[in-house]
Amino acid sequence: MNPLAADERRGRFITLEGGEGAGKSTQARRLVAHLARAGVPALATREPGGSPLAEAIRAVLLSGRAAQFGAAGEAILFGAARLDHIDRLIAPALAAGTWVVCDRFADSTRAYQGAGGKAPAALIDELENIVVGETRPDLTILMDLPPEIGLARARRRADGAAGDRFESEDLGFHRALRRAFLDIAAAESERVKIVDATASEDEIAANVWALVRRKFPGVMEADGK
Ligand code: TMP
Repeated sequence: MNPLAADERRGRFITLEGGEGAGKSTQARRLVAHLARAGVPALATREPGGSPLAEAIRAVLLSGRAAQFGAAGEAILFGAARLDHIDRLIAPALAAGTWVVCDRFADSTRAYQGAGGKAPAALIDELENIVVGETRPDLTILMDLPPEIGLARARRRADGAAGDRFESEDLGFHRALRRAFLDIAAAESERVKIVDATASEDEIAANVWALVRRKFPGVMEADGK
């Protein structure tokens, strides 16, 4: 089979990244709906999670029970969840021509376990190579906002309940995350595009859509939009 033809049929892989309370899940849903209106088959998924096994690992990670392993051990668990998610959902969907919009992916491991948790960079890099392999995002949208604002939103959403494993880290941790995400965007400016997540939900959705159209102009035209 002509490999180029296979590549054209392949769905595109878009990830949304950022700190806490950035509104990623809302925007992931809105983007999938927008793609569907443009005639592009797409699904929304999330990490950690997205497959039954990965959702089970999510529950362990977010409960804080895995914190005793340290950031390196947590990174390995995020990696195991990601492996299953890719094998069972992401890779088959992309191969079938479905676009995948994922709320968080490997950049979150780089930021949270690498920059925030100080797991060794060599581990984070090697884990990403082994787990992600060829399934790298075509486009990553970094929803950037000051951690003070994001944490306040996340806490309002939790309605007084205690924050999960990472929400309850101190402000210094969340500032390190923001810097790490911005550094990734600077280092990989072709893949990662920044959106101001302090804007209104509608404005963010419009900005996300503009970035998607700019990145994939031919595909959108070919799909009748
Ligand atoms: P969320 O669904 O509310 O974003 O929760 C996921 C949490 O897990 C969030 O605090 C970020 C954290 N996380 C990591 O620490 N490393 C990772 O690789 C991923 C995907 C998420």
